[in-house]
Amino acid sequence: MSLFPDTELNNVVELKGIGQSYDGGANWIIKDLDFLIQDKPDQGQFIVILGMSGCGKSTLLRYIAGLQQPTEGSVILDGKPADRNNRSSMVFQQYSSLPWMTVLENVALALKYKGISKSEREQKAYELIELVGLKGHEWKYAQYPTLSGGQLQRVAIARSIIANPSIILMDEPFGALDIKTRLKMQELLSDVWHKFQSTVIFVTHDIAEAVYLADDIYIMKSAPSRFVRHIPVTLPLIRNLETKRDPLYTQLVHQVEDAMMEVSEMG
Ligand SMILES: Nc1ncnc2c1ncn2[C@@H]1O[C@H](COP(=O)(O)OP(=O)(O)O)[C@@H](O)[C@H]1O
Ligand SMILES: [Mg+2]
Repeated sequence: MSLFPDTELNNVVELKGIGQSYDGGANWIIKDLDFLIQDKPDQGQFIVILGMSGCGKSTLLRYIAGLQQPTEGSVILDGKPADRNNRSSMVFQQYSSLPWMTVLENVALALKYKGISKSEREQKAYELIELVGLKGHEWKYAQYPTLSGGQLQRVAIARSIIANPSIILMDEPFGALDIKTRLKMQELLSDVWHKFQSTVIFVTHDIAEAVYLADDIYIMKSAPSRFVRHIPVTLPLIRNLETKRDPLYTQLVHQVEDAMMEVSEMG
């Protein structure tokens, strides 16, 4: 049975028959990989990808961002091949902000690319900065230690959502944060992304984080990589601290842990 049943709904992201080799086909890092995200009308969705280090998670995000082409297969976004000019998606990682620009300039940047007037983009940037809890920091440079690691990640979140992209790519965005900041950022992200009805594709190694944030979790096997498990997260749509007290949350964390163990033993 396919992990990705094909329904009547629009395909937001479609990876078909993907293969990745860096040595002319002698070794395949990724082989026969399929991945499909279909639109949920009037609603965003949060997809989490899990897999061992080196299995190709960042590579998949680069394909979707149009930064890399697979050796084999096709990458289709909303019916069109992915390319670099596709401004509907943005990757962010730690320190992805531009340190020589202020918080305000960083957050407004994606709107500048879209040709929106300065006053309009600054107004929108002020709103987003407030939304992510950085009001009062607009004129600081987006650099460490002027801003803390957690504050820089807030800038990154605001930057990635300001242009209302249909797809937001996040590659282990909270990996370097201390645990308290990380939990705060998870809460912030789960609060804000709903407002934008975007499709978020989020890579993490943290299973508790995955269950807290995701609507759907997909697990990759390695060597060669492809998706082998889908775990729908059947928790209520809106997540908060109560979510982690829900017995279903703990049950899902265990289910994902077991699946990760099984997958790590696959050939
Ligand atoms: N330019 C390259 N040449 C050879 N191997 C590469 C190159 N880029 C990435 N790889 C390999 O591709 C694999 C997948 O990398 P990556 O997508 O970063 O994995 P992940 O994000 O899951 O940790 C890794 O084994 C990495 O060594
Ligand atoms: Mg990676």
